Amino acid sequence: MTTARHLTDIASLDDEALLQILERSLTFRRMMDQGRYPKPVLEGRLQFNLFFENSTRTNLSFEVAAKRLGAIVSVVPVAASSVHKGETVDDTVVTLCAQGADYLVIRAAPAGTIASAVSVIERNGYPTSILNAGEGALGHPTQGLLDVSSVLYALKRQPDDRLEDVRLSICGDIRHSRVAASAIEGFSRMGAQITLVGPSQLLPSEKPAGVAAMIEDLGDGIDGADVVMALRIQKERFGADEGLSLDGFHEQFGLNHAKLKRASPDAIVMHPGPMNRGVEISDALADDPERSLIRSQVTHGVATRMAVLEWLEEARR
Ligand code: CP
Repeated sequence: MTTARHLTDIASLDDEALLQILERSLTFRRMMDQGRYPKPVLEGRLQFNLFFENSTRTNLSFEVAAKRLGAIVSVVPVAASSVHKGETVDDTVVTLCAQGADYLVIRAAPAGTIASAVSVIERNGYPTSILNAGEGALGHPTQGLLDVSSVLYALKRQPDDRLEDVRLSICGDIRHSRVAASAIEGFSRMGAQITLVGPSQLLPSEKPAGVAAMIEDLGDGIDGADVVMALRIQKERFGADEGLSLDGFHEQFGLNHAKLKRASPDAIVMHPGPMNRGVEISDALADDPERSLIRSQVTHGVATRMAVLEWLEEARR
């Protein structure tokens, strides 16, 4: 099994590590449902959350997960930090390591931030583990893991059952989405049949590995799907030369109950959040307890991050 010190991406996890994290994530989720929490395997550990981009779910669930496992957690107040006096990200990382960070959870926009942080702590001989909490449009590995685990949980499956019979349609802004990148990695490793759906401007320029099809019509793209994932339009990542017109996006690509009739009769709907209600998904569908997995995904975020931290802790001992 992979005994990596860091969680940089899903591709770095071998099958045994991937299945272990998913299995523990399901166990932790069942415990949470019963109001129980595991023993504090991170007692005495120190975690810093260093978020250079806004976050509600990821930042807080990493904090909650680490605290539930017994760690001390400090959320770095980036807006009030010395980054704004010109300190580099790498110097900030080294500063936190020098204060005794065992775990350092990082979210940042520039591609290469995570690799650079890993490199600087290894060059300086710190034992700190880096966890990627979202890096530009490159990846968001714990989101990918929690999305897979949420579907296993909803379908009452174990990781060994795989998802080879499951048709997943990922809809909306795939091109700028790190959530889509990690979902493709995670669900394809579990054997799911993946279709990407959106206007050509929001689809990748080439079909990614692990994807069966890219379709520009929502109805055709979700036809027969068992799981439909809606994604927010990531306007903050549009390049200056991307003259995207989003007029009519909701009419053509916004998910609602009427459009979902093309999917499987029992189809479930996912969204990583934050949602733009009335754009990529309707209010009624987002809040439909029969269809929507969205709140369950948020709960699962804590369970999966506990599983990842436990897995990294095992490698440290
Ligand atoms: N899904 C997700 O990453 O949400 P946040 O940006 O709120 O962390």
